[in-house]
Amino acid sequence: MMTGSLLDRLPQEILRLLRLIGSYADQRRVSCYLIGGVVRDLLLGRDNLDIDIVVESDAVEFCKPLAQRYQTALTVYPRFKTATLTWDHRFVVDFSSTRKEAYPTPGALPVVVEGTLKDDIFRRDFTINAMAISLNQDNYGTLVDMCRGQDDIRSRTIRVFHAKSFEDDPTRILRAIRFQERYQFQIAEETREPLRQAVEGKFWQYVSAGRYFEEFKKILKEPNVLCCLDRLQDVGGLSFFSKEIVWTPAKKDHFKRVQTILLWMQEQGIDRTALAVWLVYLMILISDQPIEKVQDIVNRLSLSRHDSRKIISCKLEQEIVKRLDMNCVKPSQVYNVLKSMSAEEILFFLVKTHGQPPEMCIQNFLTQYRNVHLCTRGEDLMRLGICDGKRIGATLQILLERKIDAGAMTKEQELSLLQEMDFI
Ligand code: CTP
Repeated sequence: MMTGSLLDRLPQEILRLLRLIGSYADQRRVSCYLIGGVVRDLLLGRDNLDIDIVVESDAVEFCKPLAQRYQTALTVYPRFKTATLTWDHRFVVDFSSTRKEAYPTPGALPVVVEGTLKDDIFRRDFTINAMAISLNQDNYGTLVDMCRGQDDIRSRTIRVFHAKSFEDDPTRILRAIRFQERYQFQIAEETREPLRQAVEGKFWQYVSAGRYFEEFKKILKEPNVLCCLDRLQDVGGLSFFSKEIVWTPAKKDHFKRVQTILLWMQEQGIDRTALAVWLVYLMILISDQPIEKVQDIVNRLSLSRHDSRKIISCKLEQEIVKRLDMNCVKPSQVYNVLKSMSAEEILFFLVKTHGQPPEMCIQNFLTQYRNVHLCTRGEDLMRLGICDGKRIGATLQILLERKIDAGAMTKEQELSLLQEMDFI
C-alpha cells in the first residue's frame, strides 16, 4: 500500500530530513524505515515528532558519516548500539539497528542480536506500535504492516504479539493502560488475560523499580492521567508502589485541583515552564504515608537526588505551611517560609490547603511577594559606610522583608527606611 500521503502529514522540515536520510541509505545500500509510535500516530492523524528510524545494518556506523556530512550533533549509546542525531539543535532523530530480542528470564534486559525488519517488528509491544514506513527511494512511503496493525488501529484495539509479552517486559502493563486511555482503545480479548495475570502475578517485580517507575512517570505526564489511574486501580496495578498506596477519591480531587491551579497560574502570567507537574502528582499519591515510608518509596524508585529532596521536604514542611494565615502572619513571614521551596512543593501545598487560610498566603506569595525586589544595592550600602559583606547581606534581607510588608517603595523610601531602622 502506498502511503506517500501519510508521510506528507509530517512538517516540511522533517520530511526534508527523511528524504535526505533515505537517499543516504540508498547510497549505502541499506534499508531504512520510520518505525513505532510516529507511524501509529500518522495513521491516527495525531502529531508526534519523536522520529525513530531503524536501519537493516549497524545504526552507529550508519550515523557517523551522516553526522559528519551534515554537521549534525551525534550521540552514540554503545551499550544499546543506538545513535541520535540532532539537526539544527531542534530535530532529534533516533536510530537503531533492526534487531531480535530474547528474554533469558522474565523482565531481564533483553539479549539483543542483529535481526531483520521482521524480527524488529515482532519484538515490539503492541501491533499498533509495530508498523514501519520505508524511506528508501524505490519504495519511499510504503507502509510495512506485517501484524495487522492497521486493522487494530481501525478497530481501536491494543493487542500483544504473544501471551508471554507482559512477562518478557512488565512495563507493557503500564503501556497498555496508557495507550488504552490516551486513544480510547480497548484491550483485545486475548490480551486481557495475560495482562490480568501479569498484574496478579506482580510481574513488575521482575524489573527494577526504577525502570518500572520510568514508565509510570509517562502515565503521570499524560493529559488524561486521571483516567489512567482509575484504570490502573481497577486492575490492581497501583500496588507496585506498595500495597498502602491507594487511588482514593480525595487524591483524585487533588489531581483535578492541580489542573485548575495550572490554569489559574496561566491566567496570572506565572511561569510554569520549569514545573514538573508529574512530581506534584507523585507527591499527592504518596503524601498520606509516614515519612519513613515516603523515604523508602523514593529510594526504591531511584528518583534523582533533586526530585527526592523535593518530595521529602514537602512532607517535612507540611506542618509549617499549615500554620500560615494572613490574619496572624505578616507577608514577610509567608515569604520566608515559601521562598526557598521548589515550584512543585508550592503547587503541592496550594492543592493541599485549598479552602483553608494558607491557600491565600501561597497565592499572595506567587502573585505578589516573590516579585518584590529592592532598588537598593550592596554598592548603595557601601557608599553609606556599611562595608562588611555579611552585614550588607543581612541588611538587604531585612529591608526586603520591610518592603514586602509595606507593599510598593521607591529607592528613596528604602534608603530613608534604612536610616530609620538605624542601620547606618
Ligand atoms: N517499545 C516496545 N516495548 C517497550 C517500549 C517501546 O516495543 N517497552 C517500542 C514500540 O514499538 C514503541 C517504540 O518502541 O512504539 C517507541 O517507544 P516509546 O518512545 O516509549 O513510545 P511511543 O510508542 O513512541 O509512545 P509515546 O507516544 O508515548 O512516546
